[in-house]
Amino acid sequence: MKLFTSCLALLALVHHVSAQTWYFLTFTTPAGSYITSYSGSFVAPPLPQAATYYLWPGLQPPGNAGVLQAVLDGRSGEWWIGDGYCCSDPSLAWGSGFNVPNGQTVNFGFSVNSVSSGTWSTSLSSSGGGSATGSFALPTHQMNQAILAIELYDVAWTFGQFAFSNVVITANTTSTSWCTNGPSNYQNAAVVTKTTPVAIVSGGTTTCKISSIVLVQPA
Ligand SMILES: *[C@@H]1O[C@H](CO)[C@@H](O)[C@H](O)[C@H]1NC(C)=O
Repeated sequence: MKLFTSCLALLALVHHVSAQTWYFLTFTTPAGSYITSYSGSFVAPPLPQAATYYLWPGLQPPGNAGVLQAVLDGRSGEWWIGDGYCCSDPSLAWGSGFNVPNGQTVNFGFSVNSVSSGTWSTSLSSSGGGSATGSFALPTHQMNQAILAIELYDVAWTFGQFAFSNVVITANTTSTSWCTNGPSNYQNAAVVTKTTPVAIVSGGTTTCKISSIVLVQPA
């Protein structure tokens, strides 16, 4: 099991041992190359009830030492989104965020000042006018995985699709197969529809563009 699966789980375990369900898609860059930015939009699905629904795009380093993520959180009964680095090494404060009504579009962005110095800037905005920015110093974690995830505790995926659009990932590699063959679908647990990823190589960087990628329903 990937380490990041234990991260937000720790929050839930404070209360009781819970049933955790994962659906996630991962674009993984080739060894020795790293992601420098990741952005896109998604639509907040209708939240069925107040419960531990975590829906997020995020970035993960090799060894799965943690995850930098923009988490749409359903615990209060109304979606809230904020960026954070889960969950230790380093321990960083969770970023600010805002509520997201059902059906609103959220734009997310992660970008690093340089792969080696590793300070990530995050941005969030919604079609309803919410916005938040953050800064996360992660110099020891170069990111090689861009993830689109549904993480559930004691609830089922009944909210319909989790739909992303205009997803763009850049990495310092001239390899393109990580993009055009991606993403992997964890345990094939989700039905996924997507447009064909397009890779553009320029100056040692590959930009991977996916117009639409949708986690449709449990497989
Ligand atoms: C990507 O950037 C990192 C950090 O500067 C460097 O160590 C690595 O060699 C680069 N990879 C490629 C394929 O250029």
